Amino acid sequence: MTNTDSIGFVCGTKGDSVSFLVSKNIGLSFGQIVRIDSGERNFYARVVNSESSSTLETIEQLREAEGKEAFGPYSAYRSVEAILFLEKRGDTLHSPTFNPNYRDRVYAATDEDCSILKLSGELEIGCLRSEDHILSSVGINIEAIPRMMGMFGMTGSGKTNTELIINAQLIDNSPRTVALIYDFAGQLLEGKEIKTQRGLKDHPLFHSKVQFYSAQDGKMAVGLSTILPGKLETIFPDIQPPQKRLAWALYRHFGADWIQSARELYHNEGNVGVRAQKVVVEALMQKLSSLSSDLFPASNYSFVESVLQNICKGITCLIDISGLRSEDQNRIVCLSASAVPEHFKRMWEDNFEEWRKLPTLLITLEEAHEFLDPNKPRTIFSDIALTYRKYRVGLNAVTPRPSRINFDVFAELWTKVIMKTELKKDRLYLTENTRTWSTVKQK
Ligand SMILES: Nc1ncnc2c1ncn2[C@@H]1O[C@H](COP(=O)(O)OP(=O)(O)O)[C@@H](O)[C@H]1O
Ligand SMILES: [Mg+2]
Repeated sequence: MTNTDSIGFVCGTKGDSVSFLVSKNIGLSFGQIVRIDSGERNFYARVVNSESSSTLETIEQLREAEGKEAFGPYSAYRSVEAILFLEKRGDTLHSPTFNPNYRDRVYAATDEDCSILKLSGELEIGCLRSEDHILSSVGINIEAIPRMMGMFGMTGSGKTNTELIINAQLIDNSPRTVALIYDFAGQLLEGKEIKTQRGLKDHPLFHSKVQFYSAQDGKMAVGLSTILPGKLETIFPDIQPPQKRLAWALYRHFGADWIQSARELYHNEGNVGVRAQKVVVEALMQKLSSLSSDLFPASNYSFVESVLQNICKGITCLIDISGLRSEDQNRIVCLSASAVPEHFKRMWEDNFEEWRKLPTLLITLEEAHEFLDPNKPRTIFSDIALTYRKYRVGLNAVTPRPSRINFDVFAELWTKVIMKTELKKDRLYLTENTRTWSTVKQK
């Protein structure tokens, strides 16, 4: 199968776990992919653990360390644990149906293995690292976007960089693909370190294929007259049914200007012109008065409409919500994120031919745990992850806290980009709920 030398041999197997002893001076690393040749089969496994030790008694080790006695080259060893994830037999690839045998030879993955594993894809993320070599490219196919993805890693682990790499390629592939990006830290336009890093504004197609929205330039307003009572649940996840009924009554009474009219009347006369229980009126009016006038001015313009039109044309929308209060961030994110996928769904149902012309959409959501936490009210994002696959809408849930992502949603994130995580709880959640993953050296 290969001309390269083996890096070691199998010294034990148990289920999908393989231990092997490695020869001296082998540049293995955690996460590396290895191939094990076992008769007619080749197994692929990922290095998850390593241990080095001596076969000598402590006293002999001490004597050897002092140079008083030499015990030969076989007194020390390094064993490595790897988890099997794929088996190749002839030309067919499948999940392992068995495991390797004692003494089977282990090899570092080669370029040929890379092509067997089909790691390359239209959206290139980086290259496979094997020993000290950089092998061929690793990427995601456009068809895989609606199968949902997740990126997990602590601050500084490279999430923003990976988001930039993927989204830049979605822009390259426009109008076949398009991106809707929620930037919580304001780092994607210009890069995190403005002097040394590049951001989406440095993309050659930025001026024709990207629209930037930010609260600072007033482009992110949602006019009050564009908010129908049906949207209140998106803005106020804790709203109760009596308040919703009152909102509909106000809408029927005042029309599109219902929020403004009710707010003015309540301010001047202490009532809203529609009969309702005082507590319900108070609860609803408190919510409606909490909408800040910068983001929710009295107008009939909504940036959500502009986002929707751009996305349909293949123009990527970068929405910078840094600096906003967290309630406002949630409102802006949920309002715009529900309108776009809903449109894709409606087109699929009502006008299939037009739907086919729509680009494949990837929504990048930072702080994804805030929107997919099982202990918080459900948001549009769990619906997207669970049911929007067939409409060609994909979600990229980016978070340092994967264990706070609702279990059902996590299972739907088929592409997982796993970086270094801080908390043991998150690492356990990832290992227990992920079958296998590969290491990628990013561009
Ligand atoms: N593939 C990479 N190679 C080299 N440096 C990187 C890479 N990815 C990220 N970095 C650097 O690491 C730092 C943190 O990366 P960033 O993407 O902002 O992480 P996060 O969003 O997870 O906090 C940045 O200074 C960035 O330039
Ligand atoms: Mg970041």
